[in-house]
Amino acid sequence: MSGPQVLIVGGGMITHDQLLPSLYQMQRLGRVGEIAVCASRFATVNQLARAETLRGAFPGQTFRGWPEREGAPQADLFREAIGALAPRQIVVVAVPDQLHYSVTMAALVRDQHVLCVKPLALESRHAAEIAHEARARGLLAAVEYHKRFDDRSLMARRQYRAGAFGEFRLGAARLFEKWYYRHSNFQNWMTAEHSDAFTYIGCHYVDLVHFITGLLPSAVSVYGVRDRFPNGNEGYLWTDARIIWENGACLNVQNGLGFPDDAPGTNTQGLVLYCGGNDKGGLLEHSDQYRGLKHSYVNQPDSAGATIYAEPSPDYFQYVDLGGGGLTPVGYGYRSVEHIVSSMIRIESEPDLIGEIERAGIIATAGNSGYNERVIEAARRSILSEGRQVEIAAG
Ligand SMILES: NC(=O)c1ccc[n+]([C@@H]2O[C@H](COP(=O)([O-])OP(=O)(O)OC[C@H]3O[C@@H](n4cnc5c(N)ncnc54)[C@H](O)[C@@H]3O)[C@@H](O)[C@H]2O)c1
Repeated sequence: MSGPQVLIVGGGMITHDQLLPSLYQMQRLGRVGEIAVCASRFATVNQLARAETLRGAFPGQTFRGWPEREGAPQADLFREAIGALAPRQIVVVAVPDQLHYSVTMAALVRDQHVLCVKPLALESRHAAEIAHEARARGLLAAVEYHKRFDDRSLMARRQYRAGAFGEFRLGAARLFEKWYYRHSNFQNWMTAEHSDAFTYIGCHYVDLVHFITGLLPSAVSVYGVRDRFPNGNEGYLWTDARIIWENGACLNVQNGLGFPDDAPGTNTQGLVLYCGGNDKGGLLEHSDQYRGLKHSYVNQPDSAGATIYAEPSPDYFQYVDLGGGGLTPVGYGYRSVEHIVSSMIRIESEPDLIGEIERAGIIATAGNSGYNERVIEAARRSILSEGRQVEIAAG
């Protein structure tokens, strides 16, 4: 097999839904070599290996699973799995938020490129350390903010930066996941002491507003409503955040694990930016959940959160049948992984590319997206003090 080896650490929802199928597709195209997945429990990798959707889409393709057999959970096994890689391969970090820093650093010090799911870290000094280590070793430490690879975001960025909308003044964004998420593994880690609805999903829209406008955030306040998960753990399952930007603009971001399971669409999400310039108002509005499709099925689908009347998004991640056996992943979820991994492959023969990537700001890297961690750190301080406004230090 040609191409770099890829190790995914974490075998949960995002690995199943986006990361592993994207990497399988690249493997099918001969772009990446062997794939391994490491979780702390055998049951996780075993379930992933047996997942029907993946087996149907990628017949004959498999990954090496760590651990290989049942036993006590091994929280540190990822270190051994990283150690088994030759230098300058690729580690994908897909573990709960509070573990991103330690897994990413373990990979970098072993000379591996890193693709980390958002958020890169919960403390900005950790993100800075990651950026420093990656820079010193000529490695790419990328953060997978896939909304950037939605064409509507790229269109907005180009036009905003060409002055088409004027200047961002006031805006609102929302992303509510379905209620049933509370019953998933989230109840074990998205608890009040570690995370909250804003840290988990709101960060996407902070990143997107920077991505489009180039503005940096200067202050944040987050009010959280505490609620109980089914297992009794408490979490901030509803949040209302206010982000002030360096030009005085203000973005309100509402998040929660509370969109009705019976509502169409896998979640509800969107962004509106009110802008002004040239004695005219500018407007940029994205409906990120309803993308024009209405499906009404004759049977109730049996997957979690699926509804008999649905408004599916064709844009994030779907499988299509292009013939030739199996299915082909399409959408910005795939394009994001493909773009980042392809860049890592190119860096191996074009080391100067890394500086270009940092400067261009299309891929979020530890070095060029530190504002995200500064917002998250301030947001955590704010939510733990009833929504007090916290200033964000300049990077
Ligand atoms: N839109 C997005 O960008 C997006 C969407 C979903 C999740 N995520 C991020 O992905 C991460 C994982 O989320 P998820 O939805 O897959 O969660 P999940 O709870 O379904 O999966 C987490 C996985 O991490 C594994 N894990 C935990 N501790 C480990 C350890 N010590 N070593 C190895 N594996 C370990 C668990 O076995 C589990 O498989 C989170 O940081 C989340 O914020 C991002």
